[in-house]
Amino acid sequence: MVDIAGSERHQPSAGPTEEDPGLVGAVEHDIREDDFPIKGWDHVKFYVGNAKQAAHYYSTAFGMTCFAYRGPETGHREHAEYALKSGGVTFVLAGGITSDSAATEHYARHGDGVIEVALEVPDVDENYRYAVKQGAIALEQPHDVSDEHGTVRVAVIGTYGETRNVLIDRSGYTGPFLPGFVAREPVVTPPPRRFFQAIDHVVGNVELGRMREWVSYYERVMGFTNIVEFVDDAIATEYSALMSKVVANGTRKVKFPINEPAEGKKKSQIDEYLEFYGGAGVQHIALATNDILAAVDQMRERGVEFLEAPDAYYDDPELRERIGTVRVPIEELKAHRVLVDRDEDGYMLQIFTKPQQDRPTMFYEIIERHGSLSFGKGNFKALFEALEKEQEKRGNL
Ligand SMILES: [Fe+2]
Repeated sequence: MVDIAGSERHQPSAGPTEEDPGLVGAVEHDIREDDFPIKGWDHVKFYVGNAKQAAHYYSTAFGMTCFAYRGPETGHREHAEYALKSGGVTFVLAGGITSDSAATEHYARHGDGVIEVALEVPDVDENYRYAVKQGAIALEQPHDVSDEHGTVRVAVIGTYGETRNVLIDRSGYTGPFLPGFVAREPVVTPPPRRFFQAIDHVVGNVELGRMREWVSYYERVMGFTNIVEFVDDAIATEYSALMSKVVANGTRKVKFPINEPAEGKKKSQIDEYLEFYGGAGVQHIALATNDILAAVDQMRERGVEFLEAPDAYYDDPELRERIGTVRVPIEELKAHRVLVDRDEDGYMLQIFTKPQQDRPTMFYEIIERHGSLSFGKGNFKALFEALEKEQEKRGNL
């Protein structure tokens, strides 16, 4: 029997084990100085075609632990929703019960995808008031949601596509997750060691010509700052050109890279996403680990497919010189197909999964940071070449 009331319980503001600043490239910063203070990520919610089976996949393949549930059995008649954790990462998988459930309709338009990126804030009303004054898309005014375990204050603002940014203050709540959810047993026995423990960044793909608009939206509405910039040929291959900018909050815990397609010879990977997702949406979520090699071994063993960088990437003398010494020999990174990049602050190891649903849309990144605060710019070309091989197999290049 696994103890679900213990360490894997929802702890949005859990201590240094979940929030080692180095793990996610965070910096020293007092959020009380911010117009739109954010404590951190609360959860990411997905609308999926079959939440019961998705909960099984994330439990087995991603080593996450299901800890809470709501659905018809608990009086929630629209969706079955499973909440899963791995360290400080919380995912909610929601599937529709009827043909007109919100999740069913969203699934028909987009396939499996992210509907909510929820942020924990100290004062929902204050954050919401500031955001709306600054031009935020107002979707749900601040309101209380309660059950016998207390009250959560919630508001919702819109972002690209149908994606929503939920603002949550859970300081008045002691239940297993959110009001209406009941604690439940894991789907399978969790692995002895989790594979990842924090969300590092959440990336959006937006339509051609709209990246700047969304960057400025986060600058205005959440007071974020533009921290890195990749423009056209910095990350162009012959085909998959894209432009990308990253906005982040003051602590840099919350980082939102935003991509748009750029002109290339053939269809860019961003165009492929936009076509198959049916518009703008979350492209990938980066999950921070302190042992990427173990995580990737475990995930591969459980059937997760990763993009494989070509041999040429590892054998390139320029890469070896630029990277210098990292915690494992390059040969070991090559054996795992893990990418490596270095910037002025340090280095990072990263790898990307293939799309995690039938449509060629959302995927994951696993990242291990060692001082580096950037996103693997040096890897984009090698990575995109690997991506294009997959795109070509699907007949979408
Ligand atoms: Fe990323």
